[in-house]
Amino acid sequence: MEKYYARRAAEYEKIFDKPERQADLARMRVDIPSLFLNQSVLEIACGTGYWTPLIAEQAESVLATDYNEEPLAIAKSKTYRKGNVAFAQADAYALPDWKNKFSACYAGFWWSHIPLGRIDAFLRGLGKALEPGATVAFMDNRYVEGSSTPISRKDAEGNTYQARRLGDGSSHEVLKNFPTPQELRARLGKEARYVEYEYYWVASYRIMAA
Ligand SMILES: C[S@@+](CC[C@H](N)C(=O)[O-])C[C@H]1O[C@@H](n2cnc3c(N)ncnc32)[C@H](O)[C@@H]1O
Repeated sequence: MEKYYARRAAEYEKIFDKPERQADLARMRVDIPSLFLNQSVLEIACGTGYWTPLIAEQAESVLATDYNEEPLAIAKSKTYRKGNVAFAQADAYALPDWKNKFSACYAGFWWSHIPLGRIDAFLRGLGKALEPGATVAFMDNRYVEGSSTPISRKDAEGNTYQARRLGDGSSHEVLKNFPTPQELRARLGKEARYVEYEYYWVASYRIMAA
């Protein structure tokens, strides 16, 4: 996963060009930032920062984090009109102990790459970086026949995988899960809000007060 996205950084944003997905993306470019009005946002796995400038327009501040230097360098090169974005290299599974807690968190196309056996530990670690009552939103892909890369196998734990090829000809097996709304609510709580688009979903919830 980590190595694959380091190698994919330069070609990553081509995925946003799929013609059939443009109507959804146009809606989400409005809907997602609106969740973060005046918030101090921790962005997990920001990648090349496709969403970061949009969120930063609405948020008070954004700390955009990713494991890999390569996508982070692209994210840093974008224009942030309000000058309210900082960047940090961080492993989502071992987040640093930031002094100031965040009032919100956003992660796009991250949930689908978390092995099922690591989700609860990831959520516990994330919770430590956030204020009680913080808003958290995850956005990711729905599996759509004919548009999504086919699933190549399923492991014993229930994780699904795709065989992907990069522009340099290299082949990679990438863990990519497609959770149902019920599976998401089982992890995030019954109150989690689930919004379905044709090609994507957004699940959001509030961190419980301690
Ligand atoms: C599918 S991309 C999502 C990028 C971005 N959020 C977006 O919506 O375009 C997944 C990102 O996760 C990052 N990543 C992989 N393993 C990670 C980890 N353990 N901690 C944090 N980020 C990680 C990759 O470098 C990559 O940028």
